[in-house]
Amino acid sequence: MQYVLPRLNDAVAHIQGDFHGKDIVSLDQFSASDLHTVFSLARQMKQLALYNEPSHILEGLVVALLFFEPSSRTFGSFAAAVKRLGGQTLEIQNPEIVSSVSKGESFEDTIRVFEAYSNALVLRHSVPGAALQAAQAAEFIPVINAGDGNNEHPTQTLLDLFTLYEQFGRLDYLTGLVAGDLANSRTLHSLIRGLSLFRGNTIYLLASERLRLAPAELAAFEERGIRLIEISSEKDIPKTCNFWYWTRIQRERLAAGDDYQGLMREQVIVTPQLLKEYASPDMILLDPLPRVGTIDPSVDADPRAVYLRSQIRNGMYVRMALLALILGRA
Ligand code: NCD
Repeated sequence: MQYVLPRLNDAVAHIQGDFHGKDIVSLDQFSASDLHTVFSLARQMKQLALYNEPSHILEGLVVALLFFEPSSRTFGSFAAAVKRLGGQTLEIQNPEIVSSVSKGESFEDTIRVFEAYSNALVLRHSVPGAALQAAQAAEFIPVINAGDGNNEHPTQTLLDLFTLYEQFGRLDYLTGLVAGDLANSRTLHSLIRGLSLFRGNTIYLLASERLRLAPAELAAFEERGIRLIEISSEKDIPKTCNFWYWTRIQRERLAAGDDYQGLMREQVIVTPQLLKEYASPDMILLDPLPRVGTIDPSVDADPRAVYLRSQIRNGMYVRMALLALILGRA
């Protein structure tokens, strides 16, 4: 099926080869060719970082990092990306405690204040749609979505796809297994969108009943032309997968009546034994991290486990590339 670029909210635009000044709110803004633009620049950024080359690419620019939710990798890699490119950061973690948000300032006002001090704003927030709202509030600078509730996490997908591309040399005709909290994992919601931009991809979905994609969501994703196959037991994992992508149960997004411990007991955990039984020798195992009941540490030594190796490092390279592109310095 031919992939048609999805309709976007009027506030954000398809990239269509021109990143300069664009907000990055959803993976739906990208075409396959836009992704490859990021990847080819990310490869150059990787060299720059590996050789610790001083860079002036973002010299004179300030990027605000406004994180209303906890973060290690996304915050750290964005901060490091700006600094490696010679730019400066304005870092605000927990604005609800340390900024005027605690005095009752509105979200829009907060965005407009930090917009006045910076050249781009990276936002993480617990409310789905907050990144779009910020993009609408910010008049002059681009906003990058660093995760909005259980909705999307587009820059995570840039690094996940870059990791797959580096490994397999292609992003089409791949078979993957995604597992864990399909209902709430924003990284997965963006990843499925991303893999739908390429032909012939199949994804097996493994989750307990409560954590599956809602039927309407599943149907909407399938309309993009990607093959999605729900399975309910590890015994149904095909041995031919190119990659596995595990996600933790998003405890902070469960409903009041949900039994977290019960769901944890139902969660399939990656162990050396599971890999031995179901994984092919040349697959790779990804996890956006943090891993909480997702992957047993004894798996870390397996060369197929890339989550603490290339996957995490690629986060900085793709963010360096994306910032250079949207700030017009590529
Ligand atoms: C993810 C997130 O915040 O959505 N973490 C990340 O950015 N790498 C995954 C998670 O929190 O489970």
